Amino acid sequence: MIDRFINKVFHEDALMLLQALPTASVDAVITDPMYGTGRKVEYDWGPDPAGGDPAKHWFYHEPMYQECRRVLKAGCAVAWAQSPKFHNYFSVWFGGHRLWTLTRYRQRGRNATGHVWIVQTREQKPVEFPHRDSLISFETIFSSAAPDAMTLREHNLHPCVKPVEEMAFMIDVLTKHGQIVLDCFCGLGSTLLAAEQLGRRWIGCDLSKQYCQRAMKRLADFGARKRNENTSGRHRTEEEQGKPPAP
Ligand SMILES: C[S@@+](CC[C@H](N)C(=O)[O-])C[C@H]1O[C@@H](n2cnc3c(N)ncnc32)[C@H](O)[C@@H]1O
Repeated sequence: MIDRFINKVFHEDALMLLQALPTASVDAVITDPMYGTGRKVEYDWGPDPAGGDPAKHWFYHEPMYQECRRVLKAGCAVAWAQSPKFHNYFSVWFGGHRLWTLTRYRQRGRNATGHVWIVQTREQKPVEFPHRDSLISFETIFSSAAPDAMTLREHNLHPCVKPVEEMAFMIDVLTKHGQIVLDCFCGLGSTLLAAEQLGRRWIGCDLSKQYCQRAMKRLADFGARKRNENTSGRHRTEEEQGKPPAP
């Protein structure tokens, strides 16, 4: 039943997608919903409906959060990004949880920034921060050396793209190879790309058609690059062995 959702990006309201997923079917929800804290944050489909009001923010998101818990397997983790501005409400909204902060920095800038992650099990038990460093270079998102470099124009499609490195950190510590990661607010698909790079299965969803298309393009580009690397690797090996390359 879950198989038909795997490795697909759904242009859909997250609540609709979640309600279609079977209970206890995914291994982790790692998702970055709207923060709700800014008065004038615009997505391509319209403004963030919370407009800075915590009550409106939670009225919008709570049904989706509860559905995320329903679709998780027992003991598995939900990681839900938030702006720290609403931290006074976190215990009421989420129950038991641990706050994880990954610091993002730009090499040439003076500021380091970061949003917090609410991390807990399906049963609302806190998940402890792993014993490892958590500094994420935001620069690589534009670097020609990065596996998924974006142009500034592409980056400006979306008000708050997450670096693939940040999502890879979360996926690496919360899941194992082959497991299913759900991001029901996937934006331009950074979580899905990180999941693909780390050999996880994934399910993505966003309200914006344009963001879904861009996410699919990033995934397709990554797949094409990987196939090219595999092909040139195979040829090198065959040449090293003195055999002609396969046709
Ligand atoms: C903070 S952004 C996610 C950014 C993403 N992590 C990335 O790296 O591109 C939140 C996303 O939630 C999406 N969104 C808001 N309401 C939604 C809903 N009801 N269903 C699905 N997506 C929704 C927005 O379109 C936006 O792309």
